[in-house]
Amino acid sequence: TWTMAGFRDMEIARIRQQVGKGRVICGLSGGVDSSVAAVLIHQAIGDQLTCIFVDPGILRAGEADEVIRTFRDRFNIHLIHRDASDLFLNALEGVSDPEIKRKTIGRLFIEVFEEEAAKLGGADFLAQGTLYPDVIESVSFTGGPSVTIKSHHNVGGLPERMKMQLVEPLRELFKDEVRELGREMDIPEVIVGRHPFPGPGLAIRIPGAITREKLDLLRRVDAIFLEEIRSAGLYDAIWQAFAVLLPVRTVGVMGDGRTYDYACALRAVTSTDGMTADIYPFDMSFLNRVAGRIVNEVRGVNRVTYDITSKPPGTIEWE
Ligand code: XMP
Repeated sequence: TWTMAGFRDMEIARIRQQVGKGRVICGLSGGVDSSVAAVLIHQAIGDQLTCIFVDPGILRAGEADEVIRTFRDRFNIHLIHRDASDLFLNALEGVSDPEIKRKTIGRLFIEVFEEEAAKLGGADFLAQGTLYPDVIESVSFTGGPSVTIKSHHNVGGLPERMKMQLVEPLRELFKDEVRELGREMDIPEVIVGRHPFPGPGLAIRIPGAITREKLDLLRRVDAIFLEEIRSAGLYDAIWQAFAVLLPVRTVGVMGDGRTYDYACALRAVTSTDGMTADIYPFDMSFLNRVAGRIVNEVRGVNRVTYDITSKPPGTIEWE
């Protein structure tokens, strides 16, 4: 009978056979797929694997630290951490078009990854957390809609340019199976059960041009929202939840003074694949509590709205 432990052992043997004594590099994003792929490959070939974590400066609060703690300290995986925030944020300065944000970020991820790989003296193999649905989607893509709504980059084009063979141990699995495999290998639940997070990160959750000040405000708002969701026990019932910092200032009153600060939106949806989505029906008392905390704790934000648009006609992200 098929078991996840059996699958893991079989894949470990397959990776060893494919890689031999070669060197493998893997881009870590902190997401479920690359995390599970990295741990599995590490179990197979140990120090022949090097992970490269590019911090683009547009991650959520605490996320970069968590990636480093988990992979370097807990799993003892050789991890290169490149803080590329200045590079990314400078390139994004004044950029307000969502597609130009995406292209800029996608290009920089590839450039920085290649730079770090070159510093290592290259590698024979590139590991990717490609899943079965990704395999299917890229095959059937020509039959899809002819209008591009958003150009999701997932570091496509990298393998051809770098002339490396691919190691893709998850390419027969669906997302829920990847999570199960991750649990089997004792990857912490905060990583295995994590909501999807887009490659362009917080840059597409700040409509208009992004600045460090806005990123800082958004991180604090987002952290409060997610903290309340977790402590209410709602995290696993939601597909994605996040905050958006709006390019609008509104008038408010604090104590006996006037404020003129940013408004934010909260977004939480249920979905099975991200293609369609329904809003999560929070209790008003929950939303009220979150709004109270945000306005009291994040100076610079004085108004909170809840996005009640389903997909379609809305999209999950605002950009
Ligand atoms: P939308 O906003 O199109 O999002 O309804 C559907 C799913 O895709 C994610 N998303 C992205 N992921 N790069 C990514 O890696 C992107 O550019 C991107 N844009 C949206 C979104 O978070 C949701 O899970």
